[in-house]
Amino acid sequence: MVRGAYLVSTIPYQYHISMISIRPYNTEDYLAVKENLKEAEMFVPDVDTAENFHQKSLRDPESILIAEDNGEVVGNLFFMEDGWRVYLFSFAVKMKFRNQGVGKKILERAENILKNRGYTSLACFISDEKAFNAFYSKLGYKKEHVSPLRVIYKDL
Ligand SMILES: CC(C)(COP(=O)(O)OP(=O)(O)OC[C@H]1O[C@@H](n2cnc3c(N)ncnc32)[C@H](O)[C@@H]1OP(=O)(O)O)[C@@H](O)C(=O)NCCC(=O)NCCS
Repeated sequence: MVRGAYLVSTIPYQYHISMISIRPYNTEDYLAVKENLKEAEMFVPDVDTAENFHQKSLRDPESILIAEDNGEVVGNLFFMEDGWRVYLFSFAVKMKFRNQGVGKKILERAENILKNRGYTSLACFISDEKAFNAFYSKLGYKKEHVSPLRVIYKDL
């Protein structure tokens, strides 16, 4: 009895993925994406608005990709491309669905889309080594040697 309770309290509660699909964002996804970005500590209130996501998806519907499982948004990935270079942003899988291949699947979809558009590389800013060592390096990403970057901005 005590042993059972101990096991329950130490095994992280995880939801199992049934059938994952990757598709472009639509406006009904906003709240789920917002919550996902908040959970991953990536939500930027002034920038990550419903209107900005809508405008971005109008310009390029594939530039916000949604991972959906059983009707639920379980991950999202944004990219920016303008002919010069492609950058990945706001890439997060809902915590309880991590480590089941969702991140890999959504990233591979983005890579395929961009390859088909003629790009030969995809870049991403990372804040520490953890994400690189645990995830990106396994998927073939390499380090670019530039000085550490911080984001600054100005309201227009
Ligand atoms: C990074 C992130 C998107 C990965 O999503 P995920 O669905 O958990 O990743 P996957 O299950 O597809 O993992 C792909 C590979 O990376 C490994 N991996 C992922 N997270 C890992 C971790 N924390 N520790 C060790 N390995 C990890 C997996 O084991 C898997 O390796 P395998 O193919 O050899 O089995 C997710 O952990 C996340 O949302 N993190 C918080 C936000 C973040 O850091 N985003 C990246 C910003 S730059």
